[in-house]
Amino acid sequence: MRKAVSLPISIKLAPNVPEISRIAQAVVTEGADAITAINTMPAMLIDAIAAKPVLSNHTGGLSGPALKPIALRCVYELAQAVSVPIIGTGGVWSGRDAAEMLMAGATLVGVGSAVVRNGPSIFNRISGELSQFMSENGYAQLADLRGKALP
Ligand SMILES: Cc1cc2nc3c(=O)[nH]c(=O)nc-3n(C[C@H](O)[C@H](O)[C@H](O)COP(=O)(O)O)c2cc1C
Repeated sequence: MRKAVSLPISIKLAPNVPEISRIAQAVVTEGADAITAINTMPAMLIDAIAAKPVLSNHTGGLSGPALKPIALRCVYELAQAVSVPIIGTGGVWSGRDAAEMLMAGATLVGVGSAVVRNGPSIFNRISGELSQFMSENGYAQLADLRGKALP
């Protein structure tokens, strides 16, 4: 991809790997400009009455609030392993979720299933809540939040 395009490239990483940092380091070495973390986690649901998987494909990708702790852990590890920007994605549904993602080391925050559930108005709600969180907790700018929870 790096040889094919001159546009900035952000590589999206999957969480279900033993060491996400090693994969991030490899893609940065190959020319990635940023990392997007994370994609969904392989999962499944079973309907106990029907005794069958709920999804027609049997398994699928888990997103939303249940994914947030995994996403935070990945972003936290990645922020200590690479110096390119990280787009923290996974379970961000509120301004406080966005603040946590920035504190884990994300430069930007991605919102997926919250848009599917709430529509595009969720972006204004999250940014409004984030502004309120910042003023209530003494943060003047996003840079003050970024990496705040890192060692
Ligand atoms: C309906 C839906 C479709 C998605 N399609 C893609 C896709 O085509 N490519 C991709 O990289 N990730 C896709 N994702 C994953 C999201 O971009 C995101 O990484 C993941 O859902 C975690 O973020 P979230 O908890 O905010 O949804 C999709 C997620 C959802 C819910």
